[in-house]
Amino acid sequence: MPVTVQKQEETGVPAHAPASRCPHLGAQYNPFVGPHVDNPHPFFERLRREEPVTFSPMLGMWLVSRHDDITRVLREPQRFSSRDMLSSGTRLTDEARDILAQGFSLDHILLGMDPPDHTRLRRLMNRGFTPQRIASAAPLIERKARELVGRFAQRGHADLLEELAYPLPVHVILGVMGVPEEDTWNIKRWSADWQALTFEHVPPEKQPEMARGVLALQRYCVDLIEERRRHPREDLTSHLIETTPEGDTMSLHELVMAIGASMLSAGHESTTSLMANTWKLAMEHGLWKRLREDRALVPKFIEEGSRWDSVQHAMIRTTTEDVELGGVLLPEGARLLLLYGAANRDESLCPHAHKLDLDRDKVPPHLTYGRGTHFCLGAPLARLQVQLTTNILLDHLEAPRLVPGQDFGIWQSIVLRQMKHLKVEWTPSTAATP
Ligand code: HEM
Repeated sequence: MPVTVQKQEETGVPAHAPASRCPHLGAQYNPFVGPHVDNPHPFFERLRREEPVTFSPMLGMWLVSRHDDITRVLREPQRFSSRDMLSSGTRLTDEARDILAQGFSLDHILLGMDPPDHTRLRRLMNRGFTPQRIASAAPLIERKARELVGRFAQRGHADLLEELAYPLPVHVILGVMGVPEEDTWNIKRWSADWQALTFEHVPPEKQPEMARGVLALQRYCVDLIEERRRHPREDLTSHLIETTPEGDTMSLHELVMAIGASMLSAGHESTTSLMANTWKLAMEHGLWKRLREDRALVPKFIEEGSRWDSVQHAMIRTTTEDVELGGVLLPEGARLLLLYGAANRDESLCPHAHKLDLDRDKVPPHLTYGRGTHFCLGAPLARLQVQLTTNILLDHLEAPRLVPGQDFGIWQSIVLRQMKHLKVEWTPSTAATP
């Protein structure tokens, strides 16, 4: 999901900064380093209470933190556009831009489109995500998860992120797309380049190499599409290529973006984060034993954990006209950072929203997968992967503990929270299910 945001010192004064010098809370927000990475929630609570719509000079964006304000933005795509999510070009170095210019431009990515163009493309892509198609991925997920867990179950320790949460989702999305397994690590590398160039702050000297990675992924997609046009198979790539009964079909450009950006790039990073987060929360909150004994609670726990610690913690919109939001008049062209992670803990969403509570009657409909027009296309696939893999881990690890004193390596792009490690130890159990 490509988004580029650069720091204020690199971009100059943003076009829509408020005229006054910023005494606002937004001036304190730093999503890249420091306390807002370790635990942003005390700050989010202040934002919701004191300045629910406030300007961040560092990002050149308005922070929106209340659930009601964010859901209103998501309900009104004609006023709050997704178009500028992909506006990376102007901030790239000339060399990186020249390299990218040899490939397909980054428009036609679902995430950065508005209705009616979005509506048409979304309809075409929805065909690949019917409940039956998602369910048919279960054997692949379970086979790979068992293989990966089998490598460490009797060892008594593992880095669950490196050894399971990282490799599994990329294998799954590649399997679903029909991409050969031997290409996994090239694709993982190229898609990381694409994500970084568009979501993160990349130093100029690294940009050309990453731009070449984007180009390599696009070329790979063209070859894959041409091969499947000649020899269709029972995979998602072949289904996306098909013409609808009404005669509509995706252009090559649309297909490369759908396959390269929306599937191969967006389809695994956030799933990796959600898996690792889910297992960490289960251990930190002493819930492993309860989940192991009552598997019906697993889906509820995954949803409550997704709400409480939102891995996809923000998204971007741009106003298409002057508009009032949360008592603040925003000019046309203002960029908004919708803090989904803050909205998920808003007391207006559910009682004691600040608590991770497995006993609440119902997990409220949180924003971790977005809402409305752009609701995550891959949410059912992500949920299925996390549920199946968590159950397999629960089968094999009786009482895992987080290795004390470890550095989880938590870091954030503007939109995604990630960990680098999740080191766990346990006593191997002879009674564990193979
Ligand atoms: C835990 C895993 C995931 C999380 C938390 C997540 C989160 C999100 C969010 C928040 C959005 C909405 C963005 C917005 O409001 O502008 C979104 C959109 C999207 N996601 Fe996911 N996602 C996940 C997994 C996946 C997977 C596995 C796929 C693909 C197989 C995927 C593909 C997409 C696509 C294509 C969109 C754009 C939809 C549109 O614009 O209509 N996601 N995702």
